[in-house]
Amino acid sequence: MKLLRQLLTLFAFAGAVGVMTSALAADAPQAASEQKAAKDLVLKGDAKCTGCHDESDEPQPSMIDLHPQVLSIGKTTHGTTADSRTPTCINCHGESANHLNHKGSEKPPKADRTFGKNTATPAAERNAACLSCHQKDASRHLWTGSAHESRDVACTSCHQVHAAHDKVRDKRTQAEVCFTCHKEQRAQANKPSHHPILEGKVACSDCHNAHGSAGPKLMKRDSVVETCYTCHAEKRGPFVHNHRPVNDDCTNCHMPHGTTADNLLKARPPLVCYQCHSGHGTPGVAGIAPGITTSPKANTFIEQGRGCLNCHTEIHGSNNPNGGQNLLPPAFFLR
Ligand code: HEC
Ligand code: HEC
Ligand code: HEC
Ligand code: HEC
Ligand code: HEC
Ligand code: HEC
Ligand code: HEC
Ligand code: HEC
Ligand code: HEC
Ligand code: HEC
Repeated sequence: MKLLRQLLTLFAFAGAVGVMTSALAADAPQAASEQKAAKDLVLKGDAKCTGCHDESDEPQPSMIDLHPQVLSIGKTTHGTTADSRTPTCINCHGESANHLNHKGSEKPPKADRTFGKNTATPAAERNAACLSCHQKDASRHLWTGSAHESRDVACTSCHQVHAAHDKVRDKRTQAEVCFTCHKEQRAQANKPSHHPILEGKVACSDCHNAHGSAGPKLMKRDSVVETCYTCHAEKRGPFVHNHRPVNDDCTNCHMPHGTTADNLLKARPPLVCYQCHSGHGTPGVAGIAPGITTSPKANTFIEQGRGCLNCHTEIHGSNNPNGGQNLLPPAFFLR
C-alpha cells in the first residue's frame, strides 16, 4: 500500500498548504478504480481489497509476529481457491462499503469487521463471521454456551488466520497460546511432576475441547475418566475389585497439569489417602471407609516412603484372588 500511503501524505501536505486540494481529490477515485480493476492475488474476488492491501502492506507493529503479511492467508487452508467454499476478504471483514468508497485525505473508516487487538467489533459479531461457515463442524456443535463463548473469547483469540502457521493447531506451540490467558496452568505445567505438555508430547487439546464439551471443564470426552482412559486404558479395568474414587474421577487423587508430589498426586501418600480414609488406627483422622482394621505393622510402614502404598499397591483396582478386596498384592506378607 506504499503508493496509497504516499497519496495520503500528499493530501495532508496539500491540505496544509491549502492549494490544489480539489484537483488532487478528483484524482483519488480514479486511482481507486484502477486498483479495483486489478487481479485477485490470493483469494477469489479479493481484488477489490488487494488493490490497496498488496504485498507491500505493512503489518501494524503489534501484529508483526502474528502476520508477516496480509497476503499470507493465501498459504493457509482458506487460500484453496479451487474449493468453492473457501472465503474471500469480505466473508470475514464484511462488504465494508464505507471503507471502499472512502474519498479524501483522512484515514478511511474501518472495515465492517476488524479482528486485531484494538478492534471495536464485538466478539459475537467476529465469531458470527467464522460460524457462518464453521457452525456445523462436529467439534464445534457445543460452542454456544461454552465457557469460552460465554466469556466473549473470540475464535481469533486462539486462531491466526492470516498467518501460514496457526500456532494453536500445532501441538508444539499450542500451549503458548492458551497460556496467554491461563497463567495458573502454565505454573502447574512447570512443576516437577507434569504431563509432557511443554515437551510437546501431550497437548491441551488431548484432554480439552476448546470449542465446547458435554463434560466438565471442557473435557474432550463426556467425563474426566473417559478422557484419561484414551491414553491410560489399563486404568479402566475391568477389575475384580475396584477402588471407587478411581472410577469416579481421577482428580480425586491427581492434578492433571502438574504437581510437586510424584505421579501428579495432589499430595504425597499417606496425605492423599487421608482425604477419605483414616490410617490404621491413626488417632484424630476422620475417615469415610468403615471398619478400618488395626494391622500390627501398618503404622510403622505408613511413615515410610510410599506410605499406604507400601502395602496397598493395587491402588487403581485389583484382580488378585487373595487380599485383592483390600487392594493388596497377591500373597500379601501379613496374611
Ligand atoms: C482505497 C484503498 C483501500 C481499499 C480498496 C481497501 N482498503 Fe483496507 N485499508 C486502507 C487504508 C488506507 C487502511 C488504513 C491503514 C492504516 O491504518 O495504516 C486500511 C485498513 C484496513 C484494515 C485494518 C483496520 C484496522 O485498523 O484494524 C482492514 C481489516 C482492512 N483495511 C480491510 C480491507 C478489506 C477487507 C478491503 C476490501 C473489502 C479493503 N480493506 C479495501 C485502504 C484500503
Ligand atoms: C477467514 C477470515 C478472514 C479472511 C478471509 C481475511 N481476513 Fe483479514 N483478518 C482476519 C483476522 C482474524 C484478522 C486479525 C489477525 C489474525 O487473526 O490473523 C485480520 C486482519 C486483517 C488486517 C489487519 C492487519 C493487521 O496487521 O492488523 C487487514 C488489513 C486484513 N485482515 C485484510 C484482509 C484482506 C485484504 C483479505 C483478503 C485478501 C483478508 N483480510 C481476508 C480475518 C480474515
Ligand atoms: C466462507 C466460508 C468460511 C469462513 C467465513 C471462514 N472459514 Fe475457515 N474454512 C473454510 C473452509 C472451506 C475451510 C477448509 C477446511 C474444511 O474443509 O473445513 C476452512 C478451514 C479453516 C481452518 C483449518 C482447518 C483445517 O483442518 O485445516 C480453520 C482453523 C478455520 N477455517 C478457522 C476459521 C476462522 C477462525 C474463521 C473466522 C475468522 C473462519 N475460518 C472463517 C471456510 C470458511
Ligand atoms: C480457546 C482456543 C480456541 C478458540 C476460542 C477456538 N478454537 Fe478452533 N481450535 C482450537 C484448537 C486447540 C484446535 C485444534 C484441535 C485439535 O487439534 O484437536 C482448533 C481447531 C479448529 C479447526 C480445525 C479442526 C476442527 O475442529 O474442525 C477449526 C475449523 C476451528 N478450530 C475453528 C474455530 C472457530 C470457527 C472458532 C470460533 C467459533 C474457534 N475455532 C474457536 C482452539 C480454539
Ligand atoms: C492430561 C489431561 C489434561 C491436559 C493435557 C490439560 N488439561 Fe486442563 N484440565 C484437565 C482436567 C481433568 C481438569 C479438571 C480438573 C482440574 O481442574 O484440575 C482441567 C482443568 C483445566 C482448567 C480449569 C481449571 C479450573 O480450576 O477451573 C483450565 C483453565 C485448563 N484445564 C487449561 C488447560 C490448558 C491451558 C492446558 C494446556 C497447557 C491443559 N489444561 C491441559 C486435564 C488436562
Ligand atoms: C483470550 C483468552 C483465552 C485463551 C487464549 C484461552 N482461554 Fe480458556 N478460558 C478463558 C476464559 C475467560 C475462561 C472462563 C473463565 C475461567 O474459567 O478462567 C476460560 C476457561 C477455560 C477452561 C475451563 C472451562 C470451565 O468449564 O470452567 C478450560 C479447560 C480452558 N479455558 C482451556 C483452554 C485451552 C485448552 C486453551 C488453548 C487451546 C484456552 N483455554 C485458551 C480464556 C481463554
Ligand atoms: C494424550 C494422552 C494422555 C492423556 C489423555 C492423559 N495422559 Fe497421563 N500421561 C501421558 C503421557 C505421555 C505421560 C508420561 C509418561 C511417561 O513419561 O512415561 C503421562 C503420565 C501420567 C501420569 C504419571 C506422571 C508421572 O509423574 O510419572 C499420571 C498420574 C497421569 N498421566 C494421569 C493422567 C490423568 C489423570 C489423565 C486424565 C485427566 C491423563 N493422564 C490423561 C499421556 C496422557
Ligand atoms: C485413590 C487415589 C487415586 C485415584 C482416584 C487415581 N489414582 Fe492414579 N495413582 C495413584 C497413586 C497413589 C499412584 C502412585 C502409584 C505408585 O507409586 O505405585 C498413581 C499413579 C498413576 C499413574 C502412574 C503410574 C502407573 O501406575 O502407571 C498413572 C498413569 C495413573 N495413576 C493414572 C490414573 C488414572 C487414569 C486415574 C483415573 C482413571 C487415576 N490414576 C486415579 C492414586 C490414584
Ligand atoms: C476420594 C476418596 C478416597 C481417596 C482419596 C482414597 N480412597 Fe480408598 N476408598 C474410598 C472409597 C469410597 C472406598 C470404598 C469403601 C467401601 O466400599 O466401603 C475405598 C476403598 C479402599 C480400600 C479397600 C477397602 C474396601 O473396603 O474395599 C483400600 C485398601 C483403600 N481404599 C486404600 C486407599 C489408599 C491407600 C488411598 C491413598 C492412595 C486411598 N484409598 C484414597 C475412597 C477414597
Ligand atoms: C503394613 C501394610 C499396610 C499399610 C502400610 C497400610 N495398610 Fe491398609 N490394610 C493392610 C491390610 C493387611 C489390610 C487388610 C486387613 C484385614 O483384612 O483385616 C488393610 C486394610 C485397609 C482398608 C480396608 C479396611 C476395612 O476394614 O475395610 C483400608 C481402607 C486401608 N487399609 C487403608 C489404608 C490407608 C489409608 C493406609 C495409609 C494411611 C494404609 N491402609 C496403610 C495393610 C496395610
